[in-house]
Formats: sequence, C-alpha cells, structure tokens
Amino acid sequence: MNIQDIRKDYTQNELDEAALREDPVSQFNSWFEEALKAEVLEANACALATVDELGNPHNRIVLLKGVSESGFQFFTNYTSDKANEIGRNAAVAMTFFWKELERQVRIEGQVRKISEEDSKAYFISRPHMSQLGAWVSNQSQVISGRSVLEQRLEELMQRYPEGTNVPYPAHWGGFELRPIKVEFWQGRPSRLHDRICYVQIDQGWHKQRLAP
Ligand SMILES: Cc1cc2nc3c(=O)[nH]c(=O)nc-3n(C[C@H](O)[C@H](O)[C@H](O)COP(=O)(O)O)c2cc1C
Repeated sequence: MNIQDIRKDYTQNELDEAALREDPVSQFNSWFEEALKAEVLEANACALATVDELGNPHNRIVLLKGVSESGFQFFTNYTSDKANEIGRNAAVAMTFFWKELERQVRIEGQVRKISEEDSKAYFISRPHMSQLGAWVSNQSQVISGRSVLEQRLEELMQRYPEGTNVPYPAHWGGFELRPIKVEFWQGRPSRLHDRICYVQIDQGWHKQRLAP
C-alpha cells in the first residue's frame, strides 16, 4: 500500500464551546473518562517533549500517573536525559492521541518535581519488580549489553526478594506539568476539525477557537 493513500475521515463527534468546562483540567478529566470508557489502549500514554541547552527538541512517551487541580504528573529517573533537560529548561509539551475517539490533547507549561513524600507514596504502591526496575536502570546511559541489566536485576532480587521492602531510590520520582496552554482537538469531516485552546490569563482561563 502507498503511504500517501492512507487517510481517514473523522466523523464521530464535535467540540462545541457551549459544552466545554471552565478550566482545562476538568475538561481533560472529562475526556479522559470518555477515553477509558471507550477502552482506548493505554489512554494515559503521552508524548513528552523537552528541549536541550542547544535548543534541540527531544520527544518520548511517558505514562500519566496523576491529575490534580494544579497539573499532570508523570514519573521518571531524575538523572535521565529528559530530567536533565527539564533541569535546564522547565518548559515542556505533552500530547495525547486517542485515535479511537479521533481526539488529541496538547498541554504546554512548566514542570517541577513533586514532593519526595508524594514520590515515595507512589513508589511504594508499585509492584515489587517495578520497584526493583527503578534501581536497575541508569536511564539514558550507554550500556555494554542487556546482560548489565539482567545481572543487576539478579543481584537486587537476591538482596530484596518478593515480600521485602525495596528502599526508595532518591534518583527516581515524579514531575508535575503545570499547564499554561491546553488544546483540545476533535477530528471532523473534510479536515474541518474542531480546535479549542485554553490560555491562562491572570488566575483564569480564556478559550479560543483555532483554525484546523
Ligand atoms: C508506552 C510507554 C510508556 C513509557 N512510560 C515511561 C514513563 O512513565 N516514564 C519514563 O521515564 N519512561 C517511560 N517510557 C520510556 C520513555 O519513552 C524513554 O525511553 C525513557 O524515559 C528515556 O527517555 P530519555 O532518555 O529521553 O530520558 C515509556 C515508553 C513507552 C513506549
């Protein structure tokens, strides 16, 4: 099949200003619930874009692990490339694509670390092997082969067998993205998609419709 021939008309839904919530976090929660109901696969997976000190962008998938009034949380290694990039420039962009609903959500803003207490609480809630995984991987570092990881995991499994407490690794934890701009995109027929963007103004939110 020719890649240029792949196309789809979007017909499922529409996005109407009158039906939108006042703030983008409530609107996100409402769409997220619909994504879960529609059994969107890994609805909490999103692309997270950061920028390095030369201005080069880097993008990867992470899992959304919490939404609060103040923002969107994900967890990672604090010594990874993404965390180093965030350390120098806290501006990031996060994008969800829920293809089963023909929807995209784009969130832009600043990230900051969540409290160590909250990171610890989430770490403790993770399955035993995921807890060990946080210790095994020096995320983003070059390694000589897969066996480096397997050996490290083996040692850790002996030191902390199932049923024992795995200590919290200080190099691992959560970030929260505090939004300043959030766009909701609903696919529509003939490429006349609906795009509504929430922009933060003072303490409130202003909604604008954008051309598709
Ligand atoms: C479905 C999926 C979920 C992922 N979730 C996370 C996550 O929550 N946190 C994380 O650090 N990496 C996650 N990753 C791995 C990242 O995409 C990436 O490879 C890793 O974080 C290293 O990125 P960096 O070198 O830019 O820091 C996930 C990858 C996929 C495909």
